[in-house]
Amino acid sequence: MACAWAFLSGKGGTGKSTVALCAAVGLARAGQKVALVDADAGVRNLDMMLGMENKIVFDLLDVIEGEATLEQALGPVKGTPGLSLLCASQVRDPSEMTGDALCALLGSLRERFDQVVVDCPTGIGAIVQAIMSCVDEAVIVTTPDDIALRDADRAAGLVSQRGGARARVVVNRVRPEYVKRGLQYAPEAVAATLDAKLLGAVPEDEEIRRAALERRMPGEGEGGRALASLALAMLGRPAQETQRRRLFPRLSPS
Ligand SMILES: Nc1ncnc2c1ncn2[C@@H]1O[C@H](COP(=O)(O)OP(=O)(O)O)[C@@H](O)[C@H]1O
Ligand SMILES: [Mg+2]
Repeated sequence: MACAWAFLSGKGGTGKSTVALCAAVGLARAGQKVALVDADAGVRNLDMMLGMENKIVFDLLDVIEGEATLEQALGPVKGTPGLSLLCASQVRDPSEMTGDALCALLGSLRERFDQVVVDCPTGIGAIVQAIMSCVDEAVIVTTPDDIALRDADRAAGLVSQRGGARARVVVNRVRPEYVKRGLQYAPEAVAATLDAKLLGAVPEDEEIRRAALERRMPGEGEGGRALASLALAMLGRPAQETQRRRLFPRLSPS
């Protein structure tokens, strides 16, 4: 039975899709069979980020309504063996997808894959609430500033209220020099505030933005390495800690 991960955020634009996508690719590169689910009906973007927008024929609603099988709707990601993408509908009314039906579908994916990675819609609406009740790990993606943190705190509240999932946090767009100057919080402080285990910290890196524009995975820079090491942390492997020390040498406990 697969482990199911949901990536959520209180605020939009914190890097949820970037982090979920890179985590899923990393898991597949580590040999896992991975289903990546874009649950953001109407404003999905993982298909575009993967250059697959013309290849997706069937979506989550088609499967829920029996118009297509899961196998028909799952698109294999070219260049990443083991990774398949399943998307919410881009054109139908988002309210047509109920939380119960989505959870049942995630259950079917769990039986077929080693890991299920869900990119949630922004915020803590009904679909996100439903997803929280049927995944194992809820990864809150936030930036280390007051505004994002206030919204992340609401997301953390939802996770604990729903009970089922374990709360984790990825702190994205960290600028170590800002942390030193007290303009951003240290990743550990963010995790403590949210009462969630720190899964990883990703620096602000222009290469991440450029890679997204060019529709490729980030290269070997600090940002790319931090994103790649998230998958290892998800698998309980230690490389992430080494990576974090390199990125934030003064912020890590000795
Ligand atoms: N660590 C980072 N450094 C630089 N740019 C980033 C970083 N993380 C995300 N971005 C960029 O920020 C934008 C929003 O990211 P995205 O993953 O779409 O956020 P969300 O899914 O939370 O709305 C994208 O252009 C993405 O390339
Ligand atoms: Mg997104």
